[in-house]
Amino acid sequence: SIFTIVHQETCIACGACGAAAPEVFDYDDEGISYVIIDDNKGTKCVPNQYVDDVLDAYEGCPTDSIKISKKTFDGNPLKYG
Ligand code: F3S
Repeated sequence: SIFTIVHQETCIACGACGAAAPEVFDYDDEGISYVIIDDNKGTKCVPNQYVDDVLDAYEGCPTDSIKISKKTFDGNPLKYG
């Protein structure tokens, strides 16, 4: 199982993550991405059926703003560097 969170300070609203994983990533009014399932806290496991999509989004983000981990982020996208 994995957790994911968007580092919104570096997101450039490119829109790739929501295309790759529409059930996991959505955008605020300015197009900045957030994780739907836990309001971008990185505290809820990504449901198994969406893990591959999240990995695609992780690899496709041009600014490396999508973080993934096997442990909770506790709301901090830079928790693991
Ligand atoms: Fe932002 Fe990266 Fe998604 S730049 S919109 S987090 S693909």
